[in-house]
Amino acid sequence: MEFKKRILCIGAGYVGGPTMSVIALKCPEYRVDVVDINPDRIKQWNSDTLPIFEPGLDEIVKKIRGKNLFFTTEIEAGIKAADIIFVSVNTPTKTYGEGAGMASDLQYWEKTALQIIKHAQNNKIIVEKSTLPVRTAEAMERILKASNRNIKFEVVSNPEFLAEGTAIKDLLEPDRILIGSHTDAAGTKAAQAIVDIYAHWIPRKKIITTNLWSSELSKLVANAFLAQRISSINSISALCEKTDANITEIAYAVGSDSRVGSKFLNASVGFGGSCFKKDILNLVYIAQSYGLHEVADYWNMVVQMNQYQQSRFVRKIIREMFNTVADKKIAIFGFAFKANTGDTRESPAIFITQKLLEEQAVISITDPKALGNARIDLAGLDNINYETDPYQAAEGAHAIAIVTEWEEYRHLDYQKIYSSMKKPAFIFDGRNILNHCQLFEIGFNVYPVGQPDLNHFK
Ligand code: UDX
Ligand code: ADP
Repeated sequence: MEFKKRILCIGAGYVGGPTMSVIALKCPEYRVDVVDINPDRIKQWNSDTLPIFEPGLDEIVKKIRGKNLFFTTEIEAGIKAADIIFVSVNTPTKTYGEGAGMASDLQYWEKTALQIIKHAQNNKIIVEKSTLPVRTAEAMERILKASNRNIKFEVVSNPEFLAEGTAIKDLLEPDRILIGSHTDAAGTKAAQAIVDIYAHWIPRKKIITTNLWSSELSKLVANAFLAQRISSINSISALCEKTDANITEIAYAVGSDSRVGSKFLNASVGFGGSCFKKDILNLVYIAQSYGLHEVADYWNMVVQMNQYQQSRFVRKIIREMFNTVADKKIAIFGFAFKANTGDTRESPAIFITQKLLEEQAVISITDPKALGNARIDLAGLDNINYETDPYQAAEGAHAIAIVTEWEEYRHLDYQKIYSSMKKPAFIFDGRNILNHCQLFEIGFNVYPVGQPDLNHFK
């Protein structure tokens, strides 16, 4: 079949894979190739077990893979054939040199740009899909223009706002699509080519076009605002624990003001995920580099508050269990950074587990999707068991810590679990998902986040 356009995506990760699957589904007249330097990843994308778990993704991939959606390692051929190249390679926080711990490591990006220059034979639109520091497009353009062959690359920013666990829904029904480009004729034309893709299924009024820098900065700011809400509610949860106020009631009362809104106000063990911390630190770094120290400090506190919330959770476990967890078995329910994903990047579970191990606790971890990643994150550490069955994880334990808000944890037989545990039995509900009164009646000592505890010691 002759395709109207050819789209290439470089990077078959959490962003590239699902995004391209939905684009291919909705644009059958375009051929979409997804390439990656990691051959194992590509093998998985071509197998029955996809490398990432997202509700609804399997069905889409199986329907169109081999028709207009292809996963390959043929980067060179892909670049040659493509009209539009999406770049969604990883941009982790730098671990070395200038900006270490804050700025983005752009080496994968730069390598990708160099590959594009090397293999391209005609004009192309390059779309930044990875979250990137502001003015990356400019840097990208400089690299691309440095090739003195007569090829024009127009760089467009199209940040992705999908959240893991709801990626397919977010892609099919996004709140908005953001496309940033240069405002001259060539830039506007390139932006229109990207608008045309999304207009296949998204109402035009939801597709926002801006200049390049606004688009890049909007992505960082959107994530910073979301993370800020969580740190705000978590900061108040600490106050609630001192005053017997209830964070769930406060979130409801405050969130009922339509100017504030009710979403993203669930107090928790802290936020995780590959984006929030990285993007805020990026914002902080950019602000600092322009000498805007108050702006940098303001946003940095969002990250610090998140660290405080995780430390506070661990300290509470130790304090309530009579100031020692040495040789006590603690079952960690949930290791993913949020429910409905197997992703554990920046998951609070990693920090919590490490700290409890330092206190010589014996840890058993259960999670419906993230045990594989948990094993990688905790490689080399002793005194950890990995259990697929939560009942098994809790057997003989002194305490359970709920770290991820998996729906199935609400529906377990806690009477049965209580019977199998050491007494006194503790539950630390780091997500406030359980029925605390019921657990207390069973016999548990219950410690929610930002709510009065229910213990039998008083
Ligand atoms: C986020 C943004 O939502 C998304 O738009 C962007 O493209 C990528 O970053 P993601 O990291 O997948 O998505 O997950 P999100 O649902 O935003 O949750 C992030 C973290 O915040 C999770 O650890 C979650 O458990 C935590 N969270 C979320 C809370 O602790 N409380 C809340 O009320 C909401
Ligand atoms: P994200 O969450 O941003 O999608 P991931 O780490 O899940 O990040 O995915 C990024 C993907 O990009 C990885 O699969 C990685 O192998 C791939 N990648 C990195 N550099 C290159 C490159 N130069 N060419 C092709 N793929 C790359």
